[in-house]
Amino acid sequence: MADLSDHRSLADLDGAFRAGRPLIYLQSPEEQRAVRLITSAVQSMPGGSRPVFVWRTTDGLSRDGQRVDDQLTAPRAVLDWIIARDEPTVLVVCDLHDQIEHSPEIRRRLRDAYSACLDTGKFVIVCSPVRVVPEELSREIVFIKLTLPTQSELKELLDGEVERVRSTGGCVELDEASSLQLAQSMQGMTVNEARHALRRAVSIRGNRLDVGATGPILEEKRQLVRQSGLLEFVPETATIDQVGGAESLKKWLLQRKRLFIDRDSLDAEIVPKGILMMGVSGCGKSLSARTVANVFGLPLYRMEMVQVFRDGLDHAEGLFADACRLMEEIAPAVVWFDEIEMGISHHQQDASGTLDRIFAYFLTWMQEKPPGLFIAATANRIDLLPAEMIRKGRFDQIFFFDLPEAPERSEIFRIHLGKRGMDPLAIPLDLITERTEGWTGAEIEQCVIAAIVAARLADRPVTDRDLLGGLNEIVPLSKTMKEQVNYIRGWAFERAVRVTPRRR
Ligand SMILES: Nc1ncnc2c1ncn2[C@@H]1O[C@H](COP(=O)(O)OP(=O)(O)O)[C@@H](O)[C@H]1O
Ligand SMILES: [Mg+2]
Repeated sequence: MADLSDHRSLADLDGAFRAGRPLIYLQSPEEQRAVRLITSAVQSMPGGSRPVFVWRTTDGLSRDGQRVDDQLTAPRAVLDWIIARDEPTVLVVCDLHDQIEHSPEIRRRLRDAYSACLDTGKFVIVCSPVRVVPEELSREIVFIKLTLPTQSELKELLDGEVERVRSTGGCVELDEASSLQLAQSMQGMTVNEARHALRRAVSIRGNRLDVGATGPILEEKRQLVRQSGLLEFVPETATIDQVGGAESLKKWLLQRKRLFIDRDSLDAEIVPKGILMMGVSGCGKSLSARTVANVFGLPLYRMEMVQVFRDGLDHAEGLFADACRLMEEIAPAVVWFDEIEMGISHHQQDASGTLDRIFAYFLTWMQEKPPGLFIAATANRIDLLPAEMIRKGRFDQIFFFDLPEAPERSEIFRIHLGKRGMDPLAIPLDLITERTEGWTGAEIEQCVIAAIVAARLADRPVTDRDLLGGLNEIVPLSKTMKEQVNYIRGWAFERAVRVTPRRR
């Protein structure tokens, strides 16, 4: 039996079988569920059920979990096998996306398989966590994405559990609203995970199913996130007045907040989906990412791109697909991709195209992700980002953080003095503001800290002289890395919105 929640995907598969489409690409991070689903769809196939074989590069060909031929590990060989076979058969091929991408021979053989399987009752289903459908195969391949259970499907799962708890003498106390709340708490989980979380919640509460199960289910979701190491919950967000300058960004966020809150009643295309913040290092990009969560009133998670690559490039795609699924699980939330270019610069020598695929996957995912997720990405080195990423429409807006001008610099001085318990109005800032042309926010903060140290050592309150003293201790990045800063500015001039509008 397929799971309740597999209705939609099952209907898609069924449709492909009925239409006699012999090549199917099924995208899903849940391989086992995919195979189960296929097996279930095959049972009601027109022309009768037929054997389902599964092929993996590690253990060759198997049927019903039993190995049939563990020597058959070459992708080419398994395609030859299905082409030569003369009875109705369904072949599920896992791990083939890489070959499809890189081997002209495999692409050719898949097209051969298409012709050889057409009208013969044979079907080849490529099953992968990532989508790789090259142009030349797009006519032959039917693409199906295995969806996560929907709200109403989770509700069905819940109804099933209600029966189970009742029949085992447990207590059920659920009205319409609390059922909905429970179903929502399971959103983003796979069917198995949801069922598992629900049963666990019921059992730790003494075989009781009521709205109180929501807590343990959400905890389970958090657990899933933590275990993965791919997403990190960030408890510290920043309020909007902790950021100096950045007026355009602040205005944008305060305006869009409404649209984000009303997302369920709005057209998806006007719901804010994410921003990319790029620019000079130390000018407040990471700080602003933390502000986004604060303004939207949502929990903040940081996506750990480094973790995606922890097991090498071969596993990166799978891990990234997992990460995307996890992000769906934690919605509503802000997901922060800090220094999004870093993943790339570490692996520039990648000839396999893995990175390109991960980015392509990410961009598609950005379009399809649930509306309750807002992406806040930051980048220092935009030249390392693929042009695709920057293209209009992917992110709602690209913001450029330039070196702060005088009014922003004094605001940043004030923020950091105030944050450390000083009265910023008591200290004249004109001179220091004037002398810190080219400084970043981070450098200004350092200068404030140096001034406090100097004043403490002399055992007196901080004055503007202490701040001026800090001038000599810091050589701003805009001097040491002049070329890079100019390059970034030049790049951003045409392509991004300055977070602080130009005054002249
Ligand atoms: N515009 C700003 N307003 C207030 N503080 C700032 C600003 N820019 C930078 N800072 C200070 O410098 C620190 C480092 O900045 P950060 O946001 O990490 O820069 P980036 O991510 O752009 O490299 C921040 O935590 C903050 O204390
Ligand atoms: Mg940063």
